[in-house]
Amino acid sequence: MTGLTKLRGKVAIITGGASGIGEAAARVFADHGARMVVIADVQDDLGQQVATSIGADKCKYIHCDVTNEDQIKSLVDSTVQNCGQLDVMFSNAGILSSCDQTILDFDLQAFDRLFSINVRGMAASVKHAARAMVELRVRGSIVCTASVTASRGGAKSTDYYMSKHAVLGLVRSASAQLGVHGIRVNCVSPYAVATPGLCGSHSMEADEVEKVYETHTSLKGVVLKVQHVADAVLFLASADSEFVTGHDLVVDGGFLSKMI
Ligand SMILES: NC(=O)c1ccc[n+]([C@@H]2O[C@H](COP(=O)([O-])OP(=O)(O)OC[C@H]3O[C@@H](n4cnc5c(N)ncnc54)[C@H](O)[C@@H]3O)[C@@H](O)[C@H]2O)c1
Repeated sequence: MTGLTKLRGKVAIITGGASGIGEAAARVFADHGARMVVIADVQDDLGQQVATSIGADKCKYIHCDVTNEDQIKSLVDSTVQNCGQLDVMFSNAGILSSCDQTILDFDLQAFDRLFSINVRGMAASVKHAARAMVELRVRGSIVCTASVTASRGGAKSTDYYMSKHAVLGLVRSASAQLGVHGIRVNCVSPYAVATPGLCGSHSMEADEVEKVYETHTSLKGVVLKVQHVADAVLFLASADSEFVTGHDLVVDGGFLSKMI
């Protein structure tokens, strides 16, 4: 693809890049001239397929379970070793609640499991990317995936809502601390988008999921797709957002602004 150069020559890591929002971001980053996009995930076959379809010269798959800090460190170290650089970390891996998780029936084991990915894994990814950027003296960009659930309470999925509130706290704190190094830290907060993760949790096809959720947005005539989220991530990852840090970029068709 020509003319798309927002990430020309950059090296990026995407956690949870084998599916959904992460996969879309990997394709957008590569289309925009990234020198190397490293997809880190636990779905090895899928991750490898996505990397191959993007092209071995500009995309590589690495197995990395974000609950394991050693694996995150090794992901960052091997990327720096092989590419000599790390410009962008898109910390995106996350899961949905495994049961209703209303507070009266709160399953603390399920909470621990979800937090180990959505919060602990997110923080560890930011930590190791930031350390590498500081050492390399790179004015890098770190983008985390939060959610509209970071700004609202929910009727269920309490652990998930809590985890995304924590991502906001992480982004705001890390951006305050890393600004001195020229490193920006932001998050993208999508509304419901029909990824394999969301469709799987509802046991529904993508078009059914879209029909359920489109009724709640202000903006009509357009349905949220992973591409919209990937474009917002590209903005935060690239120099287009050079003076933006500590920001929560909602991609929600007006959902959060609307008085119900
Ligand atoms: N789909 C939505 O409606 C929506 C809305 C707001 C935020 N989000 C967030 O977007 C992010 C991506 O979700 P998605 O909807 O694309 O789902 P998805 O399930 O399609 O993709 C998530 C990816 O993360 C990977 N992953 C899960 N656990 C991991 C681990 N321990 N280590 C490494 N990788 C792991 C999965 O294998 C998968 O490939 C998540 O953080 C999610 O909370 C999704």
